[in-house]
Amino acid sequence: MSELVFEQVSVRYGTRRGGLTAVDGVSLTVPPGQVVGLVGESGSGKSTLARSAVGLAPVSAGRVLLDGIDVRQLAGRRPLQMVFQDPYSSLDPRMRIGASISEAMPRGGGADARRAEVARLLELVNLDPDRAGMLPAQLSGGQRQRVALARALAGQPKVVIADEITSALDVSVQGAVLNLVRDVRRSLGLSMLFISHNLAVVRYLSDIIAVMYLGRIVEAGPAEQVLSDPQHPYTRDLLSAAPAWNTPLFEDGDAAGVSDAEPSDPHHPPAGCRYHPRCALGPLARPDRDVCLTTDPAQDAERRPHRSACHFAGEPRPALPKGARA
Ligand SMILES: Nc1ncnc2c1ncn2[C@@H]1O[C@H](COP(=O)(O)OP(=O)(O)OP(=O)(O)O)[C@@H](O)[C@H]1O
Ligand SMILES: [Mg+2]
Repeated sequence: MSELVFEQVSVRYGTRRGGLTAVDGVSLTVPPGQVVGLVGESGSGKSTLARSAVGLAPVSAGRVLLDGIDVRQLAGRRPLQMVFQDPYSSLDPRMRIGASISEAMPRGGGADARRAEVARLLELVNLDPDRAGMLPAQLSGGQRQRVALARALAGQPKVVIADEITSALDVSVQGAVLNLVRDVRRSLGLSMLFISHNLAVVRYLSDIIAVMYLGRIVEAGPAEQVLSDPQHPYTRDLLSAAPAWNTPLFEDGDAAGVSDAEPSDPHHPPAGCRYHPRCALGPLARPDRDVCLTTDPAQDAERRPHRSACHFAGEPRPALPKGARA
């Protein structure tokens, strides 16, 4: 089992003057055989962080290590495989799915052995091996996502990064795909970075939960602890926007709409704490808390519970004014 480590990774897009830092000094570890769930609203940098590991986003600082080796030194980065929201982005629409999976397998072996391996992989993702001759368009969305997973597994990865892999699927098949991911991960002993804006989905799979906001991890810790005792106000806002824990898992759990305030512009992140313009514990509610306006809490996050980037981590949340959305 393998360990994936993001070490102070930054990704910058665009020019010095017009650009934006989509990922800003992120450190995150995916321990061997564990699932790290990465949550955060749209634009927080989840996909960019994931893509930095597989060479699809430009790493401007820091490095990504697989078992201690810089991933840039891994030939083809085969041990690290990514599955995307839209299977069309990893499947060639003109290629039969068997060929598509075979193409991702290591070279060598005769034609028969390769065909047998394709069949084995299709079975692993609960698809009939007879479908190997089909084109992606002849499959349903859920089946295509299973093929994308089989193709990722064909590379015999040690770590799989899954980016919103159920978000484009019907609610009715999301559960089946998640169960498949859980079973396959267990049986192959894979380590996994699992990205979703849906907290219910992340909760279902993750050993560790990391919460991202405006290019940074603002809280990370064991899943149960982060969910039962969130330290960062943004995590609490995400949790209160998610459906109650006793509602069915796959009801719409979209956690994107956290507060009525607009998310901050990533081109111009707020000074001090990046969450202060939206925070229920910050200067909006408590004018004496000007530390949030001036001092970046990321500086000493390491020493707080769950590495929380909040000067007032863990403080009870104030009651909302009457009529406000809970
Ligand atoms: N290729 C690119 N060029 C310029 N900016 C980009 C590029 N890709 C992403 N960005 C910007 O980087 C920031 C982070 O985007 P990213 O796609 O990583 O967010 P995300 O958390 O995955 O969001 P979502 O939940 O919508 O998938 C956004 O402001 C986005 O506009
Ligand atoms: Mg994304």
